[in-house]
Amino acid sequence: MSKIETLDQKIAESKLGGGEKRIASQHKKGKLTARERIHFLMDKGSFEEIGAFVTHRSTNFGLDKTKFLGDGVVTGYGTVNGRLTYVFSQDFTVLGGSLAEAHAEKICRIMDLAMENGAPVIGLNDSGGARIQEGVVSLGGYADIFYKNTLSSGVIPQISGIMGPCAGGAVYSPALTDFILMVENTSYMFVTGPNVVKTVTNEEVTAEELGGASTHSTKSGVTHFSCANEIEAITNIKKLLSYIPQNCEEKPPVIDYDMNQDETRAVLDSIIPDNPNQPYDIKEVINGLIDVDSFFEVHKDYAENIVVGFARLAGRSIGIVANQPSMLAGVLDVEASKKGGRFVRFCDAFNIPLLVLEDVPGFLPGTDQEWNAIITNGAKLLYAFSEATVPRITVITRKAYGGAYDVMNSKHIGADMNYAWPTAEIAVMGAKGAAEIIFKNEIKSAENPEEKWKEKEAEYSELFANPYNAASRGYVDEVIKPNETRRKLIRAFKMLEKKAVSIPKKKHGNIPL
Ligand code: HXC
Repeated sequence: MSKIETLDQKIAESKLGGGEKRIASQHKKGKLTARERIHFLMDKGSFEEIGAFVTHRSTNFGLDKTKFLGDGVVTGYGTVNGRLTYVFSQDFTVLGGSLAEAHAEKICRIMDLAMENGAPVIGLNDSGGARIQEGVVSLGGYADIFYKNTLSSGVIPQISGIMGPCAGGAVYSPALTDFILMVENTSYMFVTGPNVVKTVTNEEVTAEELGGASTHSTKSGVTHFSCANEIEAITNIKKLLSYIPQNCEEKPPVIDYDMNQDETRAVLDSIIPDNPNQPYDIKEVINGLIDVDSFFEVHKDYAENIVVGFARLAGRSIGIVANQPSMLAGVLDVEASKKGGRFVRFCDAFNIPLLVLEDVPGFLPGTDQEWNAIITNGAKLLYAFSEATVPRITVITRKAYGGAYDVMNSKHIGADMNYAWPTAEIAVMGAKGAAEIIFKNEIKSAENPEEKWKEKEAEYSELFANPYNAASRGYVDEVIKPNETRRKLIRAFKMLEKKAVSIPKKKHGNIPL
């Protein structure tokens, strides 16, 4: 055999991973192989593999007789939508994609290259966890990755696709990254599996119930996206990348856009109902404001009383945080605060300007909320907005009540521009409750208390159920018509494009975790 033939043979062997039989079994489970995933992720022909011949060095439990070229993870770089991207893709056909010394070293090398060259890392996870035969070396390998995940956080975007099992301590690498995407029915994440759960807590639960895509996208919020299949997950990863810069030193990509086209959106004039207590869908407002079809929602099924996601305004990426009046009246609770805070911090870390749409009746009252630390969790959102130095604009569409007014990117905590629609109500609380408190004695002693209450409610409404009091103080920069809001936003974000602010010198802040 010639030397070239030997090389070709090795390449072919490496490409085959754990062999035809295991590939067939992977397909039978409805899953793609590690290489097929990369094929769909990267631009055609752009992928360059690194470390295809790496093998483990273990002799434990007969492992010396079970060696696979590549050691269960395909690593390398290529382009996604023409931009440099690093990837590691675990190969379940090789020792169940289990991670040990060599496997971890390959991932770490990719992460180092990504940091040195300022480009995102995509991790496609499909693994039985720590390779049991290699013992503590496997645990060390995970910890090496966790450490690099943490150092990379806020420097380069890190995205995790969960394409199969991801269990035990292995979950903490994706958890440290910016976004997690899971595939329905074929992926799961949990710290301890159903068997351990049964032993310890006596709960009977399936893997899917315990840590499937639907659980983590609705109940825990661990995953940001629940995808119907692997192709959808990969498509979403590509889409996500299209909104974000390569690293924290860069600005997000800009798409060509004719600044003069469709600035007025009349559709926005008829969304807010006449009755201030009637719900409406804030996504109609979002879609009315942004470039057509550009909204890419994040955490769609979790804490639906707040909506977050990326969009484009005149071709430029923005991050949107919006109260959702059609879900729990758009109230802020523990989950919504965590969801919003995390998204704001991502946008700020990666130079993505923030647009806040505000219609919030306040924080959700109750023992459940207090005992689950709405104080600490609400503070996360407040902190995230306050420390963000990217351009920040708020549009108050309707209610801006109480502490939530302050928290939702008010000018007092550093928003650059604050607009209000004529339907805005900016006050300490709703008129009914306010009248009951401040006119308590007057109402009680009135001949007709109900009538008196109504009269006082109207008085309070007259004064505060509008944006003009706040505008007279400059808390609102301008009261604008819904149909002109898109134009105002495009211009204001353009005006803020070179915003530079300095924050006090510190090692790092102490966000209330
Ligand atoms: C070595 C492993 C492995 C592992 C799977 N395999 N997990 N080899 N170490 N952790 C091997 C199997 O022996 C098998 O080899 C092949 O991968 C496919 O596994 P199957 O069990 O046949 O597949 P399936 O039925 O789909 O089940 C998948 C699975 C199961 C649910 C993931 O394999 C499993 O429970 N594995 C163990 C999971 C685990 O306990 N891991 C440690 C978690 S603790 P052959 O040769 O037959 O193809 C952890 C700590 C990390 O990860 C700590 C970081 C801080």
